[in-house]
Amino acid sequence: MKTIHWGILGTGRIAEKFAIGLQHVTNAQLYAVGSRTKEQAIQFASRYNIPRAYGSYAELAADPNVDVIYIASPHVFHAEHTLLCLEAGKAVLCEKPFAMNARQVSDMIKKAKEKDLFLMEALWTRFLPTVRHTEQLIASGVIGDIIQIQSDFGFKAEYDPQWRLFNKQLGGGSLLDIGIYPVFIALLLLGMPDEIVSSAVIGKTGIDESIGAIFKYNNGKIASLTSTFMANTPTETIISGTEGRIRFHRMWHMPTFLTLTKNDGTSEDIRFNYAANGYEYEAQEVTNCLLQGLKESPLLPLSFSEKLISLLDTIRGQWNLEYD
Ligand SMILES: NC(=O)c1ccc[n+]([C@@H]2O[C@H](COP(=O)([O-])OP(=O)(O)OC[C@H]3O[C@@H](n4cnc5c(N)ncnc54)[C@H](OP(=O)(O)O)[C@@H]3O)[C@@H](O)[C@H]2O)c1
Repeated sequence: MKTIHWGILGTGRIAEKFAIGLQHVTNAQLYAVGSRTKEQAIQFASRYNIPRAYGSYAELAADPNVDVIYIASPHVFHAEHTLLCLEAGKAVLCEKPFAMNARQVSDMIKKAKEKDLFLMEALWTRFLPTVRHTEQLIASGVIGDIIQIQSDFGFKAEYDPQWRLFNKQLGGGSLLDIGIYPVFIALLLLGMPDEIVSSAVIGKTGIDESIGAIFKYNNGKIASLTSTFMANTPTETIISGTEGRIRFHRMWHMPTFLTLTKNDGTSEDIRFNYAANGYEYEAQEVTNCLLQGLKESPLLPLSFSEKLISLLDTIRGQWNLEYD
């Protein structure tokens, strides 16, 4: 079977984690890395035994031996870097949020279709075994009909106005960075809401430091979603149904531990071990899709990412937060 040659664009924090996960993917090789500086690229390449190191993203995109590029730059560059790679004929896995708004996402999808290339948002939680297992539990009817979802994601970030989390020029803000996970789980399990009410605390740098959103569904369901950079919140998700509930424990977006509690009072802890750090699952999905000649993932189709970004746009629009 062919080996898929991966390239990584950007050498920041998440690129490091992804590189570790990729070592555990079958039929895949981490073949090249591109950075804004050659020195950074060489250092990153030496840490992960990567054969090619480029001092620009354009050179990475131009390497004829690279099949797919993982975009690991700050959100504001996702559209630009995705288009660069697609234009050069590469399949793309782009970090979340897919882009800054629905218009950019639409441009990316249009280009992928025009070039007949694979494209996917790197929403790694979608591919984790805990989430896949939860879908099976819900489908089995064990918790009955879902009535409510409570999901939060919060941590106390060291305040630095230049850091991408607080820096508006780099797409800072809790909704796009971590609030996307609660919005994702509500969309995955309940679909598009009929009504959204939200509010945000805007900090000194003009970005949303804390947000809260309620999704209401005409079929009687509600999701309560929060995110913050200002406190270490439980960061859990609880899915409550007519017959029981499922709790994703702390750091639920990378869950290894969930509890199923039924209305009869019984409770079961379910634990999972990842092969590596969890990023291997999304990378394996992309590798498998490419080997099968697919242009999008059946598990995370582009239509899902379009809905997700439209929800983020709607929420952000309710508090008039606009990026350049
Ligand atoms: N899936 C997850 O679990 C997860 C976790 C964290 C972050 N993310 C996402 O991944 C993306 C990157 O986050 P990160 O935490 O890795 O960021 P980071 O540590 O700041 O790294 C971003 C990298 O992007 C490149 N870059 C290009 N233009 C840049 C600019 N003007 N300023 C700063 N960096 C620039 C740099 O690589 P070079 O210097 O090598 O060019 C930099 O190292 C974000 O969109 C974030 O939402 C996802």
